[in-house]
Amino acid sequence: MVRTGQLVGVVALGGCEGTGADEGASADQGGSDGLDEGSEDELGEDAETTSEDGGPSCAPSTEQTAGPFPQDGFERSALDLYGHEGVPFTLDGQVFDEQCQPIADAVVLLWHASPSPPGVRPASTAPDPEYVSAIYDHEAQADAETPDGQAVPTGEQMYYGWVRTDAAGRYAFSSLRPGWYLNGASYRTSHLHLRVFVDGALRVTTQLYFPDDEFNDSDGIFASCEGACTMSLDGDAASFDLVAGP
Ligand SMILES: [Fe+2]
Repeated sequence: MVRTGQLVGVVALGGCEGTGADEGASADQGGSDGLDEGSEDELGEDAETTSEDGGPSCAPSTEQTAGPFPQDGFERSALDLYGHEGVPFTLDGQVFDEQCQPIADAVVLLWHASPSPPGVRPASTAPDPEYVSAIYDHEAQADAETPDGQAVPTGEQMYYGWVRTDAAGRYAFSSLRPGWYLNGASYRTSHLHLRVFVDGALRVTTQLYFPDDEFNDSDGIFASCEGACTMSLDGDAASFDLVAGP
């Protein structure tokens, strides 16, 4: 489901049609206004404004489509567990409240599709029979083991994990850049799904994008975020700050 424009107080629906990520997608609180993310410096310069009482004010992170919740046993920051070929990346950032104060002990949940080997991507946004699509449903690897001999989880839990923010609201992950999968008749751009929970309550559901992905401009869900869901990227180090809405 493609959302367009900046929506406030709406219901966000699942956006991974044709993948396991859609299954179980639930209606979420909306509450986006499209101006919140970026680097810490950008947050200060662009997103922070002055509230009526004169204090700083941050706009909530832009909402995108829904997905799973944190599950027991998946608190982990390193999601590259299976020896797959892929392009490594790290992601870090901070979680803030609407007064621009860091939120400690927030849960940041990240999940994404399987990687593609370096240099391998669809020839175009149209279905490419030569490309093995990135997937969420990993049934084909049901008998696989991780390098340390553990069973590979199937389904959404494969490239999936959650962490708690530290006292400065910081979080960090490492993984392999997700590949591209068909959404209807065209491939979705490479993207991360992310949620933030504060005191157990869901406060942010969004998707994050790499600024250098050639498929960004053809992805309607990417377009719906109007640039507010694009990570900064320095080499293999991505960064993104989040603001928890009400
Ligand atoms: Fe997805």
